[in-house]
Amino acid sequence: MEAVPKKLEHDLEEAADFLRDYLERGGVPKVVTHHDADGLSAGAIVHSAITKEGYPCHTRCVKQLEDRIIAELAAEKPEMVIFTDFGSGQVDLIQKHLKDTKVIILDHHQPKEVKAEIEHNINAHKYGIDGAREVSGSGMAYFFARAFCDGCEELPETQFRVTELAALAIVGAVGDLQDNSGAFHGLNRLIIKEGEAAGVLRVEKDLRLFGRQTRPLYKAIEYTTEPFIPGLSGSESASLQFLSELDIPVKRDDRFVMLADLTQEERQRLTTALILKMIEHRVPPRIAESIVGEVVTLLKEEKRTPLRDAKEFATLLNACGKHEHYGIGLAVCLGERGELYRRSLGMLREHREYLSTCYNWITQNLDKIRDEGAVYALHAGEEIDENVIGTVAGMVLNSRILNPIKPIIAFADAEDGEVKVSARGNRELVDSGLNLGKAMLYASELVAGEGGGHDIAAGAKIPKGKEEEFLKHVEEKIREQLAVPSREAIGGRK
Ligand code: C5P
Ligand code: C5P
Ligand code: ZN
Repeated sequence: MEAVPKKLEHDLEEAADFLRDYLERGGVPKVVTHHDADGLSAGAIVHSAITKEGYPCHTRCVKQLEDRIIAELAAEKPEMVIFTDFGSGQVDLIQKHLKDTKVIILDHHQPKEVKAEIEHNINAHKYGIDGAREVSGSGMAYFFARAFCDGCEELPETQFRVTELAALAIVGAVGDLQDNSGAFHGLNRLIIKEGEAAGVLRVEKDLRLFGRQTRPLYKAIEYTTEPFIPGLSGSESASLQFLSELDIPVKRDDRFVMLADLTQEERQRLTTALILKMIEHRVPPRIAESIVGEVVTLLKEEKRTPLRDAKEFATLLNACGKHEHYGIGLAVCLGERGELYRRSLGMLREHREYLSTCYNWITQNLDKIRDEGAVYALHAGEEIDENVIGTVAGMVLNSRILNPIKPIIAFADAEDGEVKVSARGNRELVDSGLNLGKAMLYASELVAGEGGGHDIAAGAKIPKGKEEEFLKHVEEKIREQLAVPSREAIGGRK
């Protein structure tokens, strides 16, 4: 079984001692985290650990840790900041603005090379752990919380066990699609083991349909996009027809049939038919087979609610993040199940509808996607919100609208007048050398932007008007990574 590397454990303990020492002297740290499901879960994990041990802290989310955002944070003159789910790509900016602040970073993005390191910049990659697959930002936060709570004196009045936070750590991992091969890897497996021992989660093999806990089966099929099921994903009528051809009823005793209601034989029939359907549409068998895999049930959450399933929980958090209602997402992570939770359910519905509108827009505007040699480029302008352009780029690459032999670089206008870039690849491309995080960092620096991320998914923010120049640099870098001959060498293009 996977264990936390000794050096990581040691560094986490040192950072935890650093925090505890500050708290014991009456300090109030600020936790600053990323706005997506992983970031919200990560922030909530650190926040919970600190407050359950009886100390105060302030937690907030931001869209991306940009120069301007760190400068604004510095203006508040914080004594201590804990960055979760980002920070390692912004060490130079943190050093520039937060010279007199105590800093802890808990991150899983590829770190940027810097002249002088921040002492407590704890990043998965530095310990030989693949931060795109083996541990998420909330996983790093979980191991930090564990080190912190283990070092605290037991409070007689609380029943809190830090390993209960494993549930949120897995929600974050699923939110970052770390399970999209159909299985969890590396430290994520250890988190699962600890969560199972704490009685907060259960992992089983099942069809990885969206909304296992809450949707009628035909809706669960329609809503599943990871993996994308050509002809069924996004289409209610096709999903109904598909079930009817398989002789699986939509309703039984006047109640909609859910995935959980199927007999073993029906489930098998459905699984085989779904895989065949994908293979017929030329989905690679490995991706088609990932429709069956590990699914996580959160045992402390109420049955038949979106929070009971890790994937739906993560989508709900993404919906809060993308609507910029971070406080609601954090509150749900921290256990709020009243009015704010009800509002999050509304955002979840709107988020799903919006994604489907974006997807339809693309299918009707295929000319917005250009083949740019080693990459595809999608120019969405104002048509797609900057907060979901990454999700949409991933959907397009997985949907077979495109032949997924090259990554996609998507552009959307940002509210601050700049341009948001999201890049998405797949495992085959990464295995061939693709590293989108490095390509984003390289090209954004050449156009005075900021970028980074993971090998398989990355992003950037660049000045308006610089899109073509940026794309040229990205394309060059990716061509080099994938060892694609240059356009000149093959006699030019077009
Ligand atoms: O900033 P953060 O690390 O939390 O975000 C990771 C992003 O990478 C998520 O948007 C996730 O959807 C994306 N991703 C992906 N495909 C993968 C792994 C991650 O699109 N295989
Ligand atoms: O925003 P998007 O989902 O496309 O981001 C993909 C990945 O790239 C995320 O992990 C995000 O944190 C990272 N990213 C980054 N720097 C940026 C923008 C995105 O590291 N400026
Ligand atoms: Zn993350």
